[in-house]
Amino acid sequence: MEECDLLIHSAPQLITCAGPPGPRRGIAMRDASIITQGALAIRGTAIVAVGPSDELRRRFTARQEIDATGHAVCPGLIDCHTHIVYAGDRITEFEQRCAGATYQEIMAAGGGILHTMRLTRAASTATLVAETLPRLAHMLRLGTTTAEVKTGYGLESDTELRQLAAIEQLTAIQPIELVPTFLAAHAVPPEFHDRADSYVDLVVETMLPLARRWYHSSSFADQAIPLFVDVFCERGAFTVPQSRRVLMAARDLGLPRKAHVDEFNELGGLAMALEVEATSVDHLDVTSTTAFSALAASATIAVLLPLVSINLGTTHFAAARQMIDAGVAVALSTDANPGSAPSLSLPLTMAIACRYLRMLPAEALLATTVNAAYAIGLGGRVGALMPGMQADLLILAANDYRWLMYELGGAPVAQVIKRGQVVWNERIS
Ligand code: NIG
Ligand code: FE
Repeated sequence: MEECDLLIHSAPQLITCAGPPGPRRGIAMRDASIITQGALAIRGTAIVAVGPSDELRRRFTARQEIDATGHAVCPGLIDCHTHIVYAGDRITEFEQRCAGATYQEIMAAGGGILHTMRLTRAASTATLVAETLPRLAHMLRLGTTTAEVKTGYGLESDTELRQLAAIEQLTAIQPIELVPTFLAAHAVPPEFHDRADSYVDLVVETMLPLARRWYHSSSFADQAIPLFVDVFCERGAFTVPQSRRVLMAARDLGLPRKAHVDEFNELGGLAMALEVEATSVDHLDVTSTTAFSALAASATIAVLLPLVSINLGTTHFAAARQMIDAGVAVALSTDANPGSAPSLSLPLTMAIACRYLRMLPAEALLATTVNAAYAIGLGGRVGALMPGMQADLLILAANDYRWLMYELGGAPVAQVIKRGQVVWNERIS
């Protein structure tokens, strides 16, 4: 008999999301690789075996066992695009939007991102950590075991670096693994009003080198977790040439890249992001279908954020169905932030994606596991239940994983296991 630390057995569905290396595309996104009556053996922080329950129970003696009878088991969810480190809220603007003001009108009047910037600049790093901690606790209960987190509410060196420091501190005090993204080019700060090019100079010449220096002495570099650089390429934020400067500077510094493109206006940011070999392009709400073949031919992941459409009250959604059918590697994320997506729920994101983006349940799951992992540079490490991968998984409150998408706004998770440890236990012991 072989030994293991934890054996989870008798799962009516063990959804492994296993497959060949690389993100899933096309019809491969329909196959979540499900083992019925499945089991999984964990040693330390890693998965050592996955297979039929009777086989693994004959093969392993375990220090601890979990009988998952009645509970589907799937990989921990990965939220690959969030803005959760900030101070305060945008409740007043929410009410203005209820009364008819648009997100872009509020942004143009100096609210929106700049409102949160003012509150974030005024907050200490300890306050930022304290305000973010309950958000992460909520995400964990909803099944998120890994999350990307962006800066972008400082828009000046000191606060942007303090946001990075907050992300690093949060990594050490709660179970969700975090991947930092430097988004100093999120909006033009008031000091640079009408001088966006000068702010881009500051980002390129001063802030990016500081972020890179911070990264190399951080715990993220030790663990081979990347630091991404992102830019908001949009009317009222940064133009395509300005966005290109930021991302080319990131490339010159050896930092991987992301871009917010085509959220409201198709400016040409997508082609630019493909040119600089961005790891992901995010939003794509108004991207023309003619752009899909170039995206499909690239290694870049398309991160779709349907909670933004819901929250902004539009009936327009990203063309996920056509993208997947064209061979684009699609991921889904919450975009959790105080303005355009005040929600921390990946199950709700998947539920909306199945209804409005016409994605199948298996596609939605692969979009928040395997493909989301590739969107943040952690493909092959998290996102699937395969021997050698990190033991990050969910024991669901239901016997079928499709409950994750079927239920609207529910709490479908019974237990969360991160790096082989039970870090949340709601319903079963
Ligand atoms: O991804 N689009 C730009 N940034 C965020 C919104 C941030 C905010 O409104 O605070 C987004 O939607
Ligand atoms: Fe965003």
